[in-house]
Amino acid sequence: MRVVSGIQPTGDLHLGNLLGAILRWVRMQDEAECLYFLADLHSLSEYIEPDVRRSSIREMAAALFASGIDPSKSILFAQSAVPEHAELCWILNGTARMGWLNRMTQWKDKAGKNREGASVALFDYPVLQAADILLYRATHVPVGEDQKQHIELTRDIALKFNTDFDVDLFTPPEPFIGGGAAARIMSLRDGRSKMSKSDPSEMSRIHLTDDDDAIAQKVRKAKTDPDPLPEDPTLLEPRPETKNLVGIYGAVTGETVEQVLARFAGQGFGEFKPALADALISLLGPLRSRLEEFRRDPDELDRILLSGAERARELAAPTLAEAYRAVGLK
Ligand code: TYM
Repeated sequence: MRVVSGIQPTGDLHLGNLLGAILRWVRMQDEAECLYFLADLHSLSEYIEPDVRRSSIREMAAALFASGIDPSKSILFAQSAVPEHAELCWILNGTARMGWLNRMTQWKDKAGKNREGASVALFDYPVLQAADILLYRATHVPVGEDQKQHIELTRDIALKFNTDFDVDLFTPPEPFIGGGAAARIMSLRDGRSKMSKSDPSEMSRIHLTDDDDAIAQKVRKAKTDPDPLPEDPTLLEPRPETKNLVGIYGAVTGETVEQVLARFAGQGFGEFKPALADALISLLGPLRSRLEEFRRDPDELDRILLSGAERARELAAPTLAEAYRAVGLK
């Protein structure tokens, strides 16, 4: 079992990232060989001030360590420090089809109506993601629900490459998506759109950097409906905001939706929201204090990332060499 996953180092880590991916990465460290990276090459799909990009890489590394990624167990690195990712991406560009990329929902959502003005990197984004995964012959890719289509595309690219060049080089990976609400945490302002760093409203998401008051305020202001909580989970279906808050509570405390509802059924948000805020504060408070500690030592962060990149390059080099050989370039 080899685990590979990445996160874009743009914006602060939010609750969706944490519950959908990072806390699951942390749990997998004891079960498998894990490689985690900051997808800084992917962040080139949109314009970001160079200094902001540079500092956000360290900031995200600090957030991952604070969340429990342990460099003695996992390999953590910045994608751009391992040039094999970009090289394999270019090789796979010969295999991926325009039609496949045109069907990606992330491309359609992010490019919107302005496809002519979108960057080529935004269109090619899923091929780089396939390279990230196939370079290490990952078997499991822990991600939130929104990345499922990209992992499926990675499988298609792997299978087509193996067939076209008559090799058994790439391992088609499995998307490894958590159960329950954690797979898709929704915005606090709109239960039908996912919690996302690109949402302009700060009130739509909870950040790892939010202090206790900010967390309590965001929960207090989260959109809800006037009815009390039901006992039957199926009654949450037409109530997306309520369903999301109950799901978040369960994901944070480790309880099922049934268990959460058994406790809060019949109660209103006047009771439920403070309990949710407390649960979130207990989860995030200790992580936030650790974040402060890691931020204090940027040189140590750089050192860990560099040593992670060296180890990743050793694992990546043989696959890349075989890929070059397979296509007839070496
Ligand atoms: P990114 O940076 O958008 O998000 C990082 C991880 O957080 C998950 N996630 C969520 N999970 C549940 N609910 C949400 N609201 C939510 N928002 C984000 C994402 O699913 C992801 O697991 N393309 C990837 C980065 C990437 C990658 C890879 C991932 C690049 N190469 C190779 C896996 C393997 C991305 O932009 O994730």
